[in-house]
Amino acid sequence: MNKLILVQALLFLITVSAAMPANDKLADLFYKRNNCQCTTAFADFDSSSSSGPFRGFVAFGQDENGSTTIFGAFNRGFNTNCTYQFLIEDEHDNILYDVTDGLDVQLTDDGGTDAFSHKFSDINLDCQSNGILLGGHNLRDKVKYCSNKKFVVRTKNQKGGQKICR
Ligand SMILES: *[C@@H]1O[C@H](CO)[C@@H](O)[C@H](O)[C@H]1NC(C)=O
Ligand SMILES: *[C@@H]1O[C@H](CO)[C@@H](O)[C@H](O)[C@H]1NC(C)=O
Repeated sequence: MNKLILVQALLFLITVSAAMPANDKLADLFYKRNNCQCTTAFADFDSSSSSGPFRGFVAFGQDENGSTTIFGAFNRGFNTNCTYQFLIEDEHDNILYDVTDGLDVQLTDDGGTDAFSHKFSDINLDCQSNGILLGGHNLRDKVKYCSNKKFVVRTKNQKGGQKICR
């Protein structure tokens, strides 16, 4: 199966399971210390110029405790001879999180990556005031909301970044 379709299917499953809590999850709600929404977001490395050479899809799923799993895959733009950094930056290109070590992205010979996934307990989407999805606006079509933070892939002489949207 195509890696990107797999990633989109996973994102769908997370959305569905968040919408339909199991009975034990409902019981859990009464005892929860932190109560975050199960929010999802994505950064789509499409053919727009801000993607640089990179093509792929990165998804974000926040659990009820405010931890965020980042998962995805790329299918173009990488050279196995280069070392890449994976970052979350704000609108002024300041690095908020360096997720390179956590994601441990493995490059493939065809210029893409294996699918990657890692849960970050220090990154939240919209549960706390520093949520990476906060501070943005709806796009012109009024349907898609994008934050002012972006997911960035960077090497010495190349950079691509896409806004984190929901
Ligand atoms: C959230 O935290 C509670 C209490 O520490 C734990 O039992 C639960 O498994 C956690 N939920 C997730 C999705 O990690
Ligand atoms: C990586 O470096 C090796 C040795 O210099 C070279 O043969 C190979 O073509 C390079 N691979 C790519 C994808 O540039």
